[in-house]
Amino acid sequence: MRSADRPGDASARAASPETAGGPPRPPDAFYPRPFDLSGLRRDAVNLRDVGEGVQVVVVPGPERLHVFRDICPHMGGPLGEATVCKDATLECPWHGYRFSLDTGRLVENPNERIMAELRRRAPACFRPENTPRYALAPLAYQVVGDRVYVQRRRSEA
Ligand code: FES
Repeated sequence: MRSADRPGDASARAASPETAGGPPRPPDAFYPRPFDLSGLRRDAVNLRDVGEGVQVVVVPGPERLHVFRDICPHMGGPLGEATVCKDATLECPWHGYRFSLDTGRLVENPNERIMAELRRRAPACFRPENTPRYALAPLAYQVVGDRVYVQRRRSEA
């Protein structure tokens, strides 16, 4: 298997012709600073600077990398300090929201436990279906040799 064929690269392949070991193309589709694949800790949050003032969190899974911006969509918490949970979720350090590593979807909002009791006692005009939904946007990437290039767009995985 070529490094460019690793899982998670499918969306990148379509946008990038054969790179012959060089940086993927088109260059402006990717953040300018790749990071090393071999330096990543497994099942842990790895914070990486991909250039232009952008930091991403990278969590290597069994099949592919999970890559997200380091900013929690709830209130901007630092996901570089998040915890990788046993159920393949990422827990934000500020308020404990947990997001699926596979999809980025919100799996648990701890406030819901509090809100459930408030809703039980609330008048009928209180609409629980208006609860905001948050999600992380998984980022596409491409591996060339030992280097990982992160795309500016979200993954279709
Ligand atoms: S900022 Fe992340 S859960 Fe609130």
